[in-house]
Amino acid sequence: MARRVTQDQYFKKAKEDGYLARSAYKLKQLNDRFDLVPQGGRVLDLGCAPGSWMQVEAELVGLRGTLVGVDLKPVELKLKCEFHTIAGDINKLDPEHLKELAGGQFDTVLSDIAPNTTGHGDDLRSAHLCRAVLNIAEHTLRPGGRLGMKIFDGAEFQDVLKETRVLFQQAKSYKPDATRDVSRETYIVARNFRGARVNP
Ligand SMILES: C[S@@+](CC[C@H](N)C(=O)[O-])C[C@H]1O[C@@H](n2cnc3c(N)ncnc32)[C@H](O)[C@@H]1O
Repeated sequence: MARRVTQDQYFKKAKEDGYLARSAYKLKQLNDRFDLVPQGGRVLDLGCAPGSWMQVEAELVGLRGTLVGVDLKPVELKLKCEFHTIAGDINKLDPEHLKELAGGQFDTVLSDIAPNTTGHGDDLRSAHLCRAVLNIAEHTLRPGGRLGMKIFDGAEFQDVLKETRVLFQQAKSYKPDATRDVSRETYIVARNFRGARVNP
């Protein structure tokens, strides 16, 4: 049986592999399983700081891909593909500006956004952020596009999953091995975006 990699081992491995955070392995595992990031694709990364997912995305899209990352915190990165970062709140984004930066609609929207955890109502804040992610995805993704977003399991989880299924032909939840065992965080992974609704 394959030996499980512990969280400390992911931390050490990220240092050795040159990733800014061990969360890099969560995206690698999500992508290995669900093929979220196409070569040469355009990827929008919401909640991208410090940038380890963008490092992985750059490897996956290759030299011809384009990335746009957004976070409240400024991000400093060196990547081989074209990329843009925006320091700001995802609740205040202009979808047209994001598409302009990328040169067109995105193939994939990813979100590893987490609210500040207080131990009370974290799941509700996470669900609220996921709804903002779904709204951005609806106005920036190409039909057929893909989504991967973090959500804290809790009272609103099933509703957010249902709302994702309105926009995508397939959506399910998945917890990569690199996620802490005790954490309530999981990911919603969705494929085949149906296209923006005319009168949502
Ligand atoms: C777990 S970290 C992301 C790690 C990143 N995927 C990586 O691998 O480097 C979550 C990020 O979400 C950001 N965030 C939380 N709320 C946000 C919001 N409203 N708008 C933009 N970013 C937000 C935080 O600043 C934080 O950097």
